Amino acid sequence: MALQANFKSPSRLGSLGEGASGSPAGSVPGAAGKGPGVDLERRNFLGMVVGGVGAAVAVSTLFPIVKYIIPPSNAVKDVSEKVVGKASDVPPKGFKIFQFNKDKVLVINDNGQLTACSAVCTHLGCLVHWESAAGQVACPCHGAKYKQTGEIISGPQPLPLKAYKVKVDGENLVVSKA
Ligand code: FES
Repeated sequence: MALQANFKSPSRLGSLGEGASGSPAGSVPGAAGKGPGVDLERRNFLGMVVGGVGAAVAVSTLFPIVKYIIPPSNAVKDVSEKVVGKASDVPPKGFKIFQFNKDKVLVINDNGQLTACSAVCTHLGCLVHWESAAGQVACPCHGAKYKQTGEIISGPQPLPLKAYKVKVDGENLVVSKA
């Protein structure tokens, strides 16, 4: 049964006589520098490496999420009125889409009568366009139809298009909140 005892056991080493080192750490004679102290250092080092890699992965994963959730402090503030372009940008029977705050605005020139509404379909967000011949705003995705002023004519959309005001100021085309 004594042969089954742990070879590194201090009690076993003690029974081997004077030549054996009875180090409680269990180091083996002639194996200086390769004992459990080294194992412990290696384990600590590996622990630090694994911890560092884990922290790096956590930071690289969380940083974009946090950045997405918290808007940048220098975000452009909404305005109530904005010069979006030139009046000549929207010819008679034509239309053009302009950026206004976070929305896209469809400006329609129906033979000199200017109107404006959101260009983002309220169904699934496709951009609408003006069909001059039919006299309606249409969405190419699922067939939503709106009046020039944004009210629903037909289609799957749940809401009308958001209305905006538009005017000509000299050469400029000015869009404002309705
Ligand atoms: S996104 Fe316009 S009809 Fe579906």
